[in-house]
Amino acid sequence: MSSNGSERFAGKTIIVTGAGSGIGKATTIRLINEGARVIASDSSRERMDGLASEFGGAELTAVVGDIMRQETIGEIIASANGVVDGLANVAGVMDHREPIHELKDEVWDRVMGVNVTAVVRLMRATLPLMLDAGKGSIVNVSSAAGTRGSMAGAAYTASKHALNGLTKSSAFMYHHKGIRVNAVAPGATITNIEAPMDSAYATELFELPRLPLVPASAEDLAAPITWLLSDDSRNVTGIVLPSDGGRTAF
Ligand SMILES: NC(=O)c1ccc[n+]([C@@H]2O[C@H](COP(=O)([O-])OP(=O)(O)OC[C@H]3O[C@@H](n4cnc5c(N)ncnc54)[C@H](O)[C@@H]3O)[C@@H](O)[C@H]2O)c1
Repeated sequence: MSSNGSERFAGKTIIVTGAGSGIGKATTIRLINEGARVIASDSSRERMDGLASEFGGAELTAVVGDIMRQETIGEIIASANGVVDGLANVAGVMDHREPIHELKDEVWDRVMGVNVTAVVRLMRATLPLMLDAGKGSIVNVSSAAGTRGSMAGAAYTASKHALNGLTKSSAFMYHHKGIRVNAVAPGATITNIEAPMDSAYATELFELPRLPLVPASAEDLAAPITWLLSDDSRNVTGIVLPSDGGRTAF
């Protein structure tokens, strides 16, 4: 029995990206504590070494590599030995909150690459295993910027809107195959994510008076992600679940 008294993931193999920090790390730790074997991936060797020093046994397989690279995806899938019960696409990067007229191609390509293209590629690699098994749960970590226009720059906002679309399309495409696809949309959460603001144009706009926000902890996000990965949410697919302290409501 795990430390929090639940064994929801006993005997299950779950892939988590962005596992070295923040929400991905909290999700990985919670999954292991609930009995899962986790294939945890991140581009930061230092962060993954830190995680591996906490969980060195069969419950954790660490894959270090840029999720944009096909080699990294190949290594993740090879580590699964043909079985993936759940996939949490958590890795993501922010833009610089810039509007389109200041947007550089390299920022657009990186943000869309990590937040959208890499998710498509990893889902594409994982889904055949879930289709063979006739079951599976995929959770994509979106953002309040996936439904609103005033949370980030053009690239990040577009990437999370795209992720919500992918989530809904895939929920429809696979609902009759026993595979659920959902998204969790955090509001401000205390992690290591960098949110540089180097656009004077955006700074002026973002400094307009706003409602005070209490940031969430990464563990606050691990809770709905693991709920959606587990059979406890068996009747839920195609949703984008806000976990943002009410931000979407006001
Ligand atoms: N923190 C927030 O306020 C917030 C709000 C809304 C949404 N989110 C989303 O939550 C998710 C997790 O972010 P976090 O806040 O935990 O950030 P974080 O920076 O603490 O963790 C993200 C991890 O992803 C890894 N990563 C980034 N690019 C990668 C790549 N190309 N290949 C492999 N690994 C890569 C990083 O090394 C890092 O360890 C992201 O998708 C982010 O967009 C965060």
